[in-house]
Amino acid sequence: MLFNIISERRKMIDKAPANQLPSTFAVNELAKALHPGYIPARIAAIREETENVKTFTLVPASSNKVFPYFRAGQYITLSANIGESLLTRPYSLSSSPKQALEGIYEVTVKRDGLFSSWLIDQAAVGTELVLGEPGGDFYHDNLRDSNKVVAIAGGCGITPFRSMIKAVIEGSEDYQITLIYGARTRSDIIFKKELETLSDERIRIIIVLSEEKAEGYEHGFITADVLKKFAPESASFFLCGPDEMYRFVKDELKKLEITDKNIRHERNAAGNRNVDNPRVFKLKVRMRDKVYSIPARENETLTVAMERAGLNAPSRCRSGICGFCHSKLISGTYTVLKEHEYRRAADFKFGFIHPCCTYPDSDMEIDVPTV
Ligand code: FES
Repeated sequence: MLFNIISERRKMIDKAPANQLPSTFAVNELAKALHPGYIPARIAAIREETENVKTFTLVPASSNKVFPYFRAGQYITLSANIGESLLTRPYSLSSSPKQALEGIYEVTVKRDGLFSSWLIDQAAVGTELVLGEPGGDFYHDNLRDSNKVVAIAGGCGITPFRSMIKAVIEGSEDYQITLIYGARTRSDIIFKKELETLSDERIRIIIVLSEEKAEGYEHGFITADVLKKFAPESASFFLCGPDEMYRFVKDELKKLEITDKNIRHERNAAGNRNVDNPRVFKLKVRMRDKVYSIPARENETLTVAMERAGLNAPSRCRSGICGFCHSKLISGTYTVLKEHEYRRAADFKFGFIHPCCTYPDSDMEIDVPTV
């Protein structure tokens, strides 16, 4: 049989019609729909959640009717020209995967930093932005995670959990969620009405207020006692919030002998590092056949320096994990903070860095991929 393969194949080819092959296949179309790279979008609605937090509804600006599907918990990037700079920032999607198929993404943003403050104070209905496709690994995985999820949120860290809760209610995800949400006061609770009117036996909401005592709310912090009281046995713990919350809650989880393999946290973007009187170095940036010489402040990452100079710097997670900004170091010395050091042995051996979380310690020269 094996020896007949060639003659059989020839016979089949001879029998086949002489039609031209299709120029594209369904699988390529699907891949393009799921991974379009960048998508022009516009703001269709803005909703105020708290004094400093707004939810932005985004729709495609082109003839596309849908956005790429995603896993509840993932993020997108938003890019816009602000002044002389071209800025890109990651935001967790607070809408559900099903809404993406209806042409809707939602991001919920707190006034904090240049881009978020611009969104809150300057962006309006009709403002156009460029979205980067969904990414990140902060989502529930049946093979890895328990079907009992304890979602621990601090402040604006509630956003990916809103997406997960919606996905469970709509049926695109299948697990139980116990949301333990830390806020300062009742007026700081994001999605307050939505959370209070939720009624689904798979979802339980506990809100912990640190600066107010009120009936129906826990008071204090998300301590081992609170976790012991509300977390089900054999759960997977998902954390999203500020770094201080991660440090505190992880210590509390340790007291309950919850091991690291059952704890996952969303990574925060690298911010400025603390340096008294930061120096300004020269940064030479090679981007394909172009070379730019720009200033780089000691306390800011190389990506921020490139954005400040108006360069289209590659940027997605801004936390060192996705590898999108992976760049060749040509010369210079630098620092990467421990919590953002995700490079592999080969990166050290062959001299690669992630500019999104690299701070200059001298003049530097780097070769950056173009986007
Ligand atoms: S943008 Fe993800 S590693 Fe730099």
